[in-house]
Amino acid sequence: MTYPTTRLRRLRATPALRTMRRETTLAASNLVAPLFVCHGTKVRRPVASMPGHHQLSVDELARDAEEIARAGIGGVILFGIPAAKDAVGREAYDEKGIVPTALRALKKAAPGLLLWADVCLCEYTDHGHCGVLDGETVDNDKTLPLLARAATAYAAAGADLIAPSDMMDGRVRAIRRALDEGGFPDTPIVSYAAKYASAFYGPFREAAESTPQFGDRRGYQMDPANADEAMREVALDLEEGADMVMVKPALPYLDVIRRVKERFGVPVAAYNVSGEFAMIKAAAQNGWLDGERAALESLISIRRAGADVILTYFAREIAPVLARGLA
Ligand code: PBG
Repeated sequence: MTYPTTRLRRLRATPALRTMRRETTLAASNLVAPLFVCHGTKVRRPVASMPGHHQLSVDELARDAEEIARAGIGGVILFGIPAAKDAVGREAYDEKGIVPTALRALKKAAPGLLLWADVCLCEYTDHGHCGVLDGETVDNDKTLPLLARAATAYAAAGADLIAPSDMMDGRVRAIRRALDEGGFPDTPIVSYAAKYASAFYGPFREAAESTPQFGDRRGYQMDPANADEAMREVALDLEEGADMVMVKPALPYLDVIRRVKERFGVPVAAYNVSGEFAMIKAAAQNGWLDGERAALESLISIRRAGADVILTYFAREIAPVLARGLA
């Protein structure tokens, strides 16, 4: 049957009809809010390229986390800014480092909130690369034990999920083994499995102070042109013991999210990264688009593509909108 018998507009006529037949849902509990934590007290240093986001000291972070928990947001993911950087990223795996300290504080301040710990060396190395160097290349196998140590330190400090973002080969296996041996066999790993070498990480690198001091990350992060290769990355990470896999960034890679969901049928996270946030914010601040609607449309499209969980800098401003219900 076709027009005039079939009229798809009939089910679009009112808000109630549209809500009833909506295919994709989005709730605050699907969202994870990234937070940047630094040393000191009473620090709330704005990140210029990410309006509304700050580098926070642990006391301030705890206040924000309580508010995030009250808003019903699914969790937070922590990125640490160390006191000092060095060639091997020592503070990343120091039990008294900034992220373990923050995790312990958040467990007390917001006990019900899921705490994700990003595992990578780039915020902690003086050269800004995601692992230790051998000349000008990142030495994959020398980096693995350091990542595994960081993961164990974070689990011991209270991390509920461990999320390696370094893109070294074999890191999921190394981390799984270390967690099991360290007494954390039940701590899940969310691997940044398909992480692309993206221009959209620019604002994050300002926030996390993690811009590479030479070269770029194309020797370990993926080529934006490749999707079959992403399937191989995901397959390997699952084999190595990943409990959930991530695609990052989100909007330029919706096809990859969809393929991962269809092919593997596992829990999928997508990272709506800093540049995706900054683009909408900048346009909204200029009055060029409606920022709230653009954010909602972005997030629903990421869910529609197949993501179960979305890491997004919009979490805090969008949670109250979701609580009112999508119109
Ligand atoms: C670090 C890491 C990055 C992001 C998350 N973890 C940056 C990078 O690889 O340079 C980016 C997040 C964002 O842009 O919001 N390994």
